Amino acid sequence: MGSPKPSRRPSWKLCLLTLVGLHLLGGWFLSSSSFGQLTDTPMTLDANSTKSVYLGALETNLAAKWNKKYAETEQLTGTNLKMVKWARDQFEKFGFNATIDEYMALTSYPIKTSVSLQKEGTTVYEPSLAEDEVEKDPASKHHVAAFLGYSANGNVTADYVYCHYGSVEDFALLKKAGVDLTGKIAILRYGGIFRGLKVRHAQLAGAIGALIYSDPKDDGEMIVQNGYKAFPDGPARNPSAIQRGSSQFLSLLPGDPLSPGYARKPGDNSTTQDPSQYIPSIPVVPVSSKEITPILKKLSGHGTKFAKWDGLIDGFDYSTGPNPKYTVNVFNHQKFVDAVQHNIMAVLEGHNPHEVVLLGNHHDSWIPAAGDPHSGSTAVMEVARALGELVKLGWKPQRTIVIGSWDGEEYGLLGSTEFGEYFAKDLKKKVVAYLNTDVAVNGPMLQLPTTPLLYSVLRKAASQVDYKTNQTVLEHFETGDNKGEFSALGSGSDFTVFLEHLGIPSVDFSFGATSTSAVYPYHSTYDSYYWMKTFGDPGFHLHNVIAKFIGLTILELTESPVIALRTSEYPTKLAEYFNTISAGIPPEWLNSTLLGEGAAVPGCAHASADLTLGDLVDSINTKLTTLTEKSAEFDLSLAGLAEENKHWDDLNYWQKLKLLIRTKRANFRLIYYERHFLNDEGLKGRSWFKHIVYASGRYTGYAGQQLPALTEALEDLKKSEFISAALYFEKVLISL
Ligand SMILES: *[C@@H]1O[C@H](CO)[C@@H](O)[C@H](O)[C@H]1NC(C)=O
Ligand SMILES: *[C@@H]1O[C@H](CO)[C@@H](O)[C@H](O)[C@H]1NC(C)=O
Ligand SMILES: *[C@@H]1O[C@H](CO)[C@@H](O)[C@H](O)[C@H]1NC(C)=O
Ligand SMILES: *[C@@H]1O[C@H](CO)[C@@H](O)[C@H](O)[C@H]1NC(C)=O
Ligand SMILES: *[C@@H]1O[C@H](CO)[C@@H](O)[C@H](O)[C@H]1NC(C)=O
Ligand SMILES: *[C@@H]1O[C@H](CO)[C@@H](O)[C@H](O)[C@H]1NC(C)=O
Repeated sequence: MGSPKPSRRPSWKLCLLTLVGLHLLGGWFLSSSSFGQLTDTPMTLDANSTKSVYLGALETNLAAKWNKKYAETEQLTGTNLKMVKWARDQFEKFGFNATIDEYMALTSYPIKTSVSLQKEGTTVYEPSLAEDEVEKDPASKHHVAAFLGYSANGNVTADYVYCHYGSVEDFALLKKAGVDLTGKIAILRYGGIFRGLKVRHAQLAGAIGALIYSDPKDDGEMIVQNGYKAFPDGPARNPSAIQRGSSQFLSLLPGDPLSPGYARKPGDNSTTQDPSQYIPSIPVVPVSSKEITPILKKLSGHGTKFAKWDGLIDGFDYSTGPNPKYTVNVFNHQKFVDAVQHNIMAVLEGHNPHEVVLLGNHHDSWIPAAGDPHSGSTAVMEVARALGELVKLGWKPQRTIVIGSWDGEEYGLLGSTEFGEYFAKDLKKKVVAYLNTDVAVNGPMLQLPTTPLLYSVLRKAASQVDYKTNQTVLEHFETGDNKGEFSALGSGSDFTVFLEHLGIPSVDFSFGATSTSAVYPYHSTYDSYYWMKTFGDPGFHLHNVIAKFIGLTILELTESPVIALRTSEYPTKLAEYFNTISAGIPPEWLNSTLLGEGAAVPGCAHASADLTLGDLVDSINTKLTTLTEKSAEFDLSLAGLAEENKHWDDLNYWQKLKLLIRTKRANFRLIYYERHFLNDEGLKGRSWFKHIVYASGRYTGYAGQQLPALTEALEDLKKSEFISAALYFEKVLISL
């Protein structure tokens, strides 16, 4: 029986439009994200053979060759164009498109630094501020100025005080004990926190100058005092070694101090800002343990002493001083220059250029150094060479691979930060992950500070590379000191802008020193090829291992149709961080109502005036539980999608199109997952830092601070700030 009125048929026009639309959509996917194609050309290599070719290329180990080459070239920021061009040409030879991308940034070059110990106005001792030449290591013959980047120009003479690590706590102790730093020179000791922050703390305490020295106590087991020979005859630090470095206030702002939050290209006339918030206003000079000894000894018996401030300087009792009879003169003269930073950008364009995996390390350093950064440069060069073997076979990655070789890292992450600021929008849209390496090898122990989205892909790549016979890198990681635990990223290397400013999942690859491996002569002339081949990595085996590991991580991230980021470990970590924080909330805060304190909070999800902070904590915990379940489900669906993609060839055109759309949608969610943690306002007093989970510790620099706004509000006992931060955190959890 027919219906009395024929139902309306879909018009042919609509049908045609739909078809055309789907075709266009298909075409767009084809150009933007085709894994295998809907219609044509099969891939030349499957994922397994891609990996085998990659690993096969690294059966030949050229690490020693690159390391030697890199370590003999001049490389202070802005003076290293010869090396930059050489490295760019190498990347080109391996089949990359390589260019030099330039930015302007403030730098400072040494003219003269000096220190003297004076008794009643007469110089009684003047350190050479130079490392000893040693016969075995030719690199020690190149005398390189001992100075700190951005140290203020000045010539000061004053009483001096031993200030331990120069932490906030150390200066608080001094103040409490009545040791006044006003108008004095602070003697700071390396260790614990980033050196620029030591200087900042000294400056805030009223000091007019500072020296920073290396104490053998901070070197662990392998010290002369324990019977080990010093470099070059043994693993202990040579007593004349000087640690150079930047004195920038890293946890307030990385990148060019003249252009906070934006980048300047050469020839731009963008306005510059006053940098004085971000760099010292007092002169500071680094000194070796040997040469600080006569200066520190004079403090013995003067001032006060603190229980845990002792060390191993011979003849010094670790009194704070001052000694009224002795003063120190600190002289620093540097040329401050707005210098061109040369980043090398090497690109292997993928079938899908809209999704990018970025690998980076820096190429500038204080001295022609083998370890920092050129163990990293060496590993990256090996990665590029092995990928180049694939390119020779006509291979093209599925997603684009970009290698950034950054300039100016040592002064303050200049090259990477300016790049990140300049391309912020594009990078946030496209970059799947940022893989960093800096000092790739200075000891035997794998360290992998990273973000939870990368945990699973790192484990997978690590399980496919041998650390040594019968032990994979993953087994090494799980049985080592860190028991397979991924640590959190802080700062001190080029991942900072990508994670903490742009919200891009990041990892920092390195084999680091342990208390029983040779002491790494960080930022001294002894960080040489000789040190590396003799003590750091004999045979350059670990350079080879890390190149394999990094490359497989890249391939895991570029080659699979479903991006290899996974979400389910993120909520676990968030809960861990939040539990630590909530355990420290003062009990009397918990009864405070949210509206009383947090009335001005934008987007406050809690309308009722009766809700308390205690309720909010409970609510966050509930949201974390929900997120845990939701993320586990999402990851499960990703595994399903990955499985379906394996059977791609069995699908018809429409099934393929449908799968492509679902895969694209999942990948979109994965790419943007970490971006949810960005808060445009940034952290209090340092708005450049936008990530609400991971940041550089404000008083530590290198070490990370998790959920920084909450932690800092708690430390400062600022209840309403704590409530605002908690409300924001809850909002983010809901959005994920
Ligand atoms: C790739 O290698 C893995 C691990 O060896 C193996 O399980 C898998 O079946 C291989 N896949 C193909 C397509 O050969
Ligand atoms: C630093 O100042 C003192 C006192 O004015 C002066 O004698 C000395 O020459 C200066 N030092 C340098 C290196 O110029
Ligand atoms: C930049 O400076 C140059 C020379 O100082 C000037 O000619 C040019 O107009 C300026 N450009 C802008 C955009 O201000
Ligand atoms: C290099 O750039 C050219 C021109 O844009 C492009 O066709 C080619 O695919 C690129 N090669 C690589 C390896 O990215
Ligand atoms: C590696 O494992 C194999 C098989 O278990 C064993 O025969 C060999 O001795 C091991 N090699 C080393 C260096 O431990
Ligand atoms: C919070 O309020 C409840 C109910 O008014 C009260 O029993 C409790 O003692 C209060 N706790 C604190 C820490 O003030």
